[in-house]
Amino acid sequence: MAIVIDGKAVAQTIRSEIADEVRRLSEKYGKVPGLAVVIVSNRKDSQSYVGMKRKAFCELGIKSFDIDLPEQVSEADLIKQVHELNANPDVHGILVQLPLPKHINEEKVLTEISLEKDVDGFHPLNIGKLAMKGREPLFLPCTPKACLELLSRSGVSIKGKKAVVVGRSNIVGLPASLLLLKADATVTIVHSHTKDPESIIRQADIVIAAAGQPKMIKGSWIKPGAAVIDVGTNAIDDPSKKSGYRLVGDVDFEEASKVAGWITPVPGGVGPMTVTMLLKNTLDGAKRTLE
Ligand code: GUN
Repeated sequence: MAIVIDGKAVAQTIRSEIADEVRRLSEKYGKVPGLAVVIVSNRKDSQSYVGMKRKAFCELGIKSFDIDLPEQVSEADLIKQVHELNANPDVHGILVQLPLPKHINEEKVLTEISLEKDVDGFHPLNIGKLAMKGREPLFLPCTPKACLELLSRSGVSIKGKKAVVVGRSNIVGLPASLLLLKADATVTIVHSHTKDPESIIRQADIVIAAAGQPKMIKGSWIKPGAAVIDVGTNAIDDPSKKSGYRLVGDVDFEEASKVAGWITPVPGGVGPMTVTMLLKNTLDGAKRTLE
């Protein structure tokens, strides 16, 4: 049976380290880190992610600047808002929740965020540096960073290993594959056009599943002893729950946990760690300007 990686427990440990640092900064400089979270959407999932982020920030004494813009806001007005946040010295990190409404050009908006405040690591220059050998971005995207942190804190080495990333989104799959490459893994990306994904995944020492397909990866696809990090958070109908749904990953946990060496559960795996990495990036951004 696999070791189940407890993301919630790891997240708690890191959050208490961050809280200590926030206190130290506050005593030394009379300032606390500040994060602006901009949301331009009524989407339930986006509202729920943003709610979780804001709550975690308050708990740690990090100041949260909440910018809620109507769905119809123009691209120019959103960019104006970003510029104001760039100029605000109390804001050390800016996060624009994605996806944005269709009439707004995501790339244009993300490019306007100050590099020093790009706590999501989505600015093309930060992503470009992540892709290049010998260059270091100022911030790493939170979910990929969470995946690698869980591997390293579980004692799973990456160097020289075969890693397969399932999914190639700009938010998770692509940056996760770049990060694994930087950590000297041999990386393969499986996506919707890949032929015979199963046989490729079966060769992997490390699997990062970020396809957004409930229970797509079966136990028989996993190499015995592999480390499996499941980023999927798919809501499926469950009439036995008060909410009417429950969350499942991209990996069939019941099957895969019998084969893998390590596995993250959903919920309670990558999710709490992603928010924690955002807290850490904001703290690092604040330290860079204050110290
Ligand atoms: N939407 C889903 N995940 C993320 C994330 O990590 N950052 C932002 N900005 N939007 C998201």
